[in-house]
Amino acid sequence: MTEIKPKHVTMFAGKGGVGKTTCAGATALHYALMGETTLIISTDPTPSLSHIFEIKSKQKPVKVLDNLFLAELGLTEVKQMWDRKFGREVYEVFSSFVSVKYAEFVDFMSSILPGLSDEFMVDYIKELSLGSDYEHIVWDTAPLGQTLGLLETPTMLREHLKPAPRIYSRLKLGAETRRPVLAILKGWEKLSGQDMEFLRDDVRFVLVTIAEALAVEQLDSILTEMNRYGFKAEQLTINNVIKEIGNSTFLKSKADQQKQYLELLYGKYSHLQIVEIPLFPHEIKGVDRLRLVETQLFPRK
Ligand SMILES: Nc1ncnc2c1ncn2[C@@H]1O[C@H](COP(=O)(O)OP(=O)(O)O)[C@@H](O)[C@H]1O
Ligand SMILES: [Mg+2]
Repeated sequence: MTEIKPKHVTMFAGKGGVGKTTCAGATALHYALMGETTLIISTDPTPSLSHIFEIKSKQKPVKVLDNLFLAELGLTEVKQMWDRKFGREVYEVFSSFVSVKYAEFVDFMSSILPGLSDEFMVDYIKELSLGSDYEHIVWDTAPLGQTLGLLETPTMLREHLKPAPRIYSRLKLGAETRRPVLAILKGWEKLSGQDMEFLRDDVRFVLVTIAEALAVEQLDSILTEMNRYGFKAEQLTINNVIKEIGNSTFLKSKADQQKQYLELLYGKYSHLQIVEIPLFPHEIKGVDRLRLVETQLFPRK
């Protein structure tokens, strides 16, 4: 019997601009340098991964280095995922209530409803992690906040439909669908449940923050949200920490301000593994600079 290797999916969560993509890039680079086949993937609508890795190719996934592949998924791919996985059945449930064309429906579902694309994404990454193409999957965009609530949509719908099963069971569904509405919703619910379970059991969450009031506050709400769903964070990365002050009164003042937030973070999150990344005097672009971050995230023993 072949042994099933545990899959490693790492997801980065945190407020916008704190350095999630940078940390995700450096983490993926780390695994690739260790000789492990790694995919870095994002569904960020304004993607920056290919910018950081200085990639021009539109190929998905594109090879960045030995062992390192990159994929930025846009709305088109998300729609294809919808077609493949969720198919027409859910559409037929909806179109029995409102008259809408399938293409419009998919547009609506994947763009208007916030977070649905995240559900597809969770599902997509779950499938990838079950396959054998990659030893590590590093996931840049985090579907946290209210968006995770969308995994509860089918449950919610089913709850609402419960009181009148006879009416709904008589809805005329398309020729392709023989299953009753509630069974379809139940199927969708099951899928969402499995996606949740995958996030809970198979994904390593890394939180990223900076030592500033707003980021520290938002970290708290992200953790509350994660707890609500039973997701456990292991690591907290504090980015942009000022390490060298020299004679600069400007940097001294910035560092003093950071100090109080650092103390707060270390006090409050002592159960997490905390890693600091210094503020570099330049942006992090290109593999060489990502390596600077990589050595901070994974210090050599
Ligand atoms: N430690 C750092 N030192 C200097 N610049 C950084 C550092 N970390 C991130 N940056 C820069 O900050 C910007 C935002 O980082 P990014 O990783 O895109 O944040 P996020 O993905 O959380 O929105 C980028 O231009 C990046 O190069
Ligand atoms: Mg980003």
